Amino acid sequence: MNDMQQDQEWWTQVQRPTGEARGLPNATYTDAAFARQERDTLFANTWTCIGFRSDLPQAPGARPVELLGMPLVIVSDETGTVRVFHNVCSHRGQVLVREAGALEGAIRCPYHSWTYRLDGSLRGTPFIGGPGVHEIAGFDKSQHGLKAVRSAEWLGMIFVNLSGRAEAFEDYLGPVLQRWEPFVGDGGLQAVSPALDGGLCMEVQANWKLAVENYCEAYHLPWVHPTLNTYSRLEDHYNIAIDDRFAGQGTYVYDFASRAGISLPEFADWPADKRKHAEYVALFPNLLLGLQIDHVFAMLLEPLAHDRTRERVQLYYVGDTAASPRYAEARKLVLDGWRDVFQEDVWAIEGLQRGRHSPGFDGGVFSPVMDVPTHTFHCWAARRLGAPEP
Ligand code: FES
Ligand SMILES: [Fe+2]
Repeated sequence: MNDMQQDQEWWTQVQRPTGEARGLPNATYTDAAFARQERDTLFANTWTCIGFRSDLPQAPGARPVELLGMPLVIVSDETGTVRVFHNVCSHRGQVLVREAGALEGAIRCPYHSWTYRLDGSLRGTPFIGGPGVHEIAGFDKSQHGLKAVRSAEWLGMIFVNLSGRAEAFEDYLGPVLQRWEPFVGDGGLQAVSPALDGGLCMEVQANWKLAVENYCEAYHLPWVHPTLNTYSRLEDHYNIAIDDRFAGQGTYVYDFASRAGISLPEFADWPADKRKHAEYVALFPNLLLGLQIDHVFAMLLEPLAHDRTRERVQLYYVGDTAASPRYAEARKLVLDGWRDVFQEDVWAIEGLQRGRHSPGFDGGVFSPVMDVPTHTFHCWAARRLGAPEP
């Protein structure tokens, strides 16, 4: 981090026009302490996806998650309402929930057995006044419940805003839904349902930002995705930047279904003259979305460490009938197709991480034409990392 301290103005250099800008410094990818700083700035101040509802045990239940070392727990109560709490006991700070599982009416701390209701309120404090004495004068249980984290749910994904100060979740999502309304209609993505027959899970030895950057650009397509490139070539793609907050790329000629000989239910309002349009948008910081006429996918990037990221893909299909057995083969082909594409990206992302240990590189440059989405992401990060908290 010393280099970065000497180079106080890196974030202003990142925010210059694309053709003149420098990328984020190496240390923002290779430094463990910096990753925690990102957690408390980039991740904490906006909406961050931390998991899928399908990860949760049947309600009532709970699942612990960690965000770069911060223990959180997702709790689903008897009615299926989801809440997120800091996964730590108010007494002496023991981690509360250690593995996903059913809850029987309460969350019990394994250390001294204090219990919490599923809304987070403190219920029982056994022996707080000595053996057999469970209440004590002056100790107000209502002040010592679990610390709730602001959360939201969309398309079966759970999001948190750790700072509690981000815009309303609907406003965060608004620009991307608005962009996609001409494709999916004014019902938004409510027409889709998560596929129940499996997603993808891959671990890459790279910083999470490199997965975002690689996803945002089509530039690498001819060399990294030869099969995709046979019908969806580089020149068929365009850049996307939404409100300077989300970025990605689109294609005019996505044609997986007819090439694979499959047919799945489609969005009813999708324009007939744009059947092969598809868009790939990164919702900063860590959710990558893909929209096609007959399916949607969401790739959740779970930052495990500064140099390790878990990529989890959930597929969604249009309408209820898409889940029927008659579409099972088509669903499998779609999943296999994306597995191939995402696996093709792994060597590239991991090579970018290794490259960031080179003193011969420290940020690099951008093509003012091809790297606009990547630069949009770097600017988004630099604005938040460089500027002090308001
Ligand atoms: S730390 Fe949880 S009950 Fe003591
Ligand atoms: Fe790729």
